[in-house]
Amino acid sequence: MAATAKEKANVKVNGSDRSDFNGMMEVEYSYLFECLRKNKEDYIYLSDLINALEAVGIRENDPRLKLDPAELDIAPQVVLDYEKFKHILKHSFGGLIKDAIQGNLIIPDFASFCREITEIYELTNKNKNGNVATYIPQLGRVDPDKYAISICTVSGQQFSIGDSNEDFCIQSICKPINYCMVLEEHGEDIVHQHVGREPSGIGFNGLVLNENSLPHNPMINAGAIMTCSMVKPEMDMADRFEYVLNFWNKITGNQNSLGFNNSVYLSEKETADRNFALGYYMKEKGAFPENTNLLSTLEFYFQCCSIQTDTNAMAIAAATLANSGICPITNERAMENNTVKNCLSLMNSCGMYDFSGEFAFTIGLPAKSGVAGGLMLVIPNLMGIAIWSPKLDKSGNSVKGIEFSKELVKRYNFHIYDSLTLNNPDKKDPRLKRNEAKIDGAISLNWAASEGNLLEVQHIYARGIDINMADYDGRTALHLAASEGHEHIIAYLIDKGVNLNPRDRWGNTPLQDAYKGNHDATILLLEANHALK
Ligand code: DON
Repeated sequence: MAATAKEKANVKVNGSDRSDFNGMMEVEYSYLFECLRKNKEDYIYLSDLINALEAVGIRENDPRLKLDPAELDIAPQVVLDYEKFKHILKHSFGGLIKDAIQGNLIIPDFASFCREITEIYELTNKNKNGNVATYIPQLGRVDPDKYAISICTVSGQQFSIGDSNEDFCIQSICKPINYCMVLEEHGEDIVHQHVGREPSGIGFNGLVLNENSLPHNPMINAGAIMTCSMVKPEMDMADRFEYVLNFWNKITGNQNSLGFNNSVYLSEKETADRNFALGYYMKEKGAFPENTNLLSTLEFYFQCCSIQTDTNAMAIAAATLANSGICPITNERAMENNTVKNCLSLMNSCGMYDFSGEFAFTIGLPAKSGVAGGLMLVIPNLMGIAIWSPKLDKSGNSVKGIEFSKELVKRYNFHIYDSLTLNNPDKKDPRLKRNEAKIDGAISLNWAASEGNLLEVQHIYARGIDINMADYDGRTALHLAASEGHEHIIAYLIDKGVNLNPRDRWGNTPLQDAYKGNHDATILLLEANHALK
């Protein structure tokens, strides 16, 4: 039979293992191929590779894979021998395929995480509260029961549920992105000569300015109108809008998933008395940059609000922010780190309007809502989440979007200050491999007990690890301490209420281990506490 990939890989390449431009060694390619190979065949099918990628959330159309779309349509028939498999890996981005097959993406157990997201979606979908916006008449014509959630991690792992392929108007979700654009174009010093960075504490279209006669921040209407005035003012209107669409396309992975809802645009501009009032009020106060054309600015603002997309794309945009300005599925930098820092800071303090304080307290993540029911949620260095449900609360935020966010941080350690309570037993951390916390805890505790390292046992106990935790063979810390005759460890564990009679996979108890080790003092201590053989 032909040499297997692993046998081939054992042959030194030119006398030494050379890594290729992805930094991968021949032997690594062989292990990855072997992992997918089955039935002793010396080939796999393209569908086998795609299934392994999709199991961890990497979609077959992920641009980084550079797979041939024609072959994707017939993937179950496309044979990949070892050389063709290697070719795909060598021409895909970095170590993406390797990390996916080895379970090393940012959320290793992506399937479990998606099951939990699905559970939260179904739970929150029962919430019927809220009303769709009608002050822009066209928005009032949306199906109020639409509900979609999409996830994109900083590794580019994607998941969607519900009406995730239906477009909705981004509305105020354009505001943080417009703010990023003007920061990139002018820098924060110039931008903040024209807009503040304080929460307003009032509704999103409040007719107020701060003590410097500037809009409080870029996330409310007044501030967003201001930042719109600063987006490429030298361009004509068509080029300005094209510039904005190109920026959105970059942060959503160049999937050409952006549209424009002209009905909403026309509906908004015909009913925008408040925004016109805000514009003239700021003009009266001299808040705008010199030579600003107010009417063009307002038109441009309405156009930015009427951009539409779906939650798949919106989640990628959120993930670009979570990934410090680099789009996870293209690996292209759309904005600088400092721009993202400033943007997330103001999303965190102002993104949910007069609910921002409560959102920061309860959920503790940067977010931005939109009056068409969109909500962009950013979990820095981990993922972006996009939610769309048109029914709003009195602050103009999606009711289901907020309920989903509350339930998410109740289950996962995503709140910005959950980092202060590492290993919180009440919250999950999806960055850990399946059972990693438990496995790490049991292994660490057993090692410390076997070494007689009481301080380390105490540290592990303080981290909330269960002292009765057993490893794969059912061996507990008490087994190991008894085997090695560490009475001081046993005394500490007994004092903490340890189970004295656990049995490992061979039926042994700690007392039996103490007898095997002829540890007389340990035997006396265990028997004095009524341990059994
Ligand atoms: O200017 C307006 O009122 C809308 N185009 C945007 C407001 C909005 O999305 C508020 N967010 N919840």
